[in-house]
Amino acid sequence: MEGGRWRVSLLVLMALTLVAKLGHFQRWEGFQEKPMSKKNMNSTLNFFIQSYNNNSNDTYLFRVQKLIRSQMQLTTGVEYKVTVKIGRTKCKRHSKKSSSCPLQSKKLKKSLICESLIYTVPWMKYYQMWNNSCLETEAVRKFW
Ligand SMILES: *[C@@H]1O[C@H](CO)[C@@H](O)[C@H](O)[C@H]1NC(C)=O
Ligand SMILES: *[C@@H]1O[C@H](CO)[C@@H](O)[C@H](O)[C@H]1NC(C)=O
Ligand SMILES: *[C@@H]1O[C@H](CO)[C@@H](O)[C@H](O)[C@H]1NC(C)=O
Ligand SMILES: *[C@@H]1O[C@H](CO)[C@@H](O)[C@H](O)[C@H]1NC(C)=O
Repeated sequence: MEGGRWRVSLLVLMALTLVAKLGHFQRWEGFQEKPMSKKNMNSTLNFFIQSYNNNSNDTYLFRVQKLIRSQMQLTTGVEYKVTVKIGRTKCKRHSKKSSSCPLQSKKLKKSLICESLIYTVPWMKYYQMWNNSCLETEAVRKFW
């Protein structure tokens, strides 16, 4: 009995490892459409915008305006591919609260569409930015 159970767990483990490996190679192809609300993606989006703001030189902080598309795939953790619209707020870089800051409305108004690949291990609250590229919404509109 015990031996049998072990063999089953071993098989499951091997299958999981295989899935993880395949997932690695299918990084861009294996994604499933997974419509999510901004609320469900809160911690991932918080990580995303924090990481964006950390790497930006803008005088002002940006915040997430809209989650446009979300896709995910399971590998060793959960990989999210998200398309988000972000906007420049009136809060300067070193101020704290970016989620409640009003957006710029006049000359300084700016919004970007970003496509980002984020690796997470949700049960360990672990997040890593794998890829991100942003375009100004004006530029994006030209393509559409
Ligand atoms: C999302 O995260 C922000 C920042 O941590 C928090 O202030 C807000 O209450 C969260 N919203 C939801 C719906 O959980
Ligand atoms: C952003 O920078 C702050 C301060 O250096 C750091 O504590 C935080 O972990 C960084 N967040 C991300 C997502 O890079
Ligand atoms: C930050 O500033 C440098 C030099 O001005 C520029 O080359 C770089 O692209 C900027 N980074 C971002 C994220 O805008
Ligand atoms: C990954 O990032 C690079 C540059 O940072 C970008 O050229 C490339 O398009 C990104 N890949 C995807 C699938 O978004």
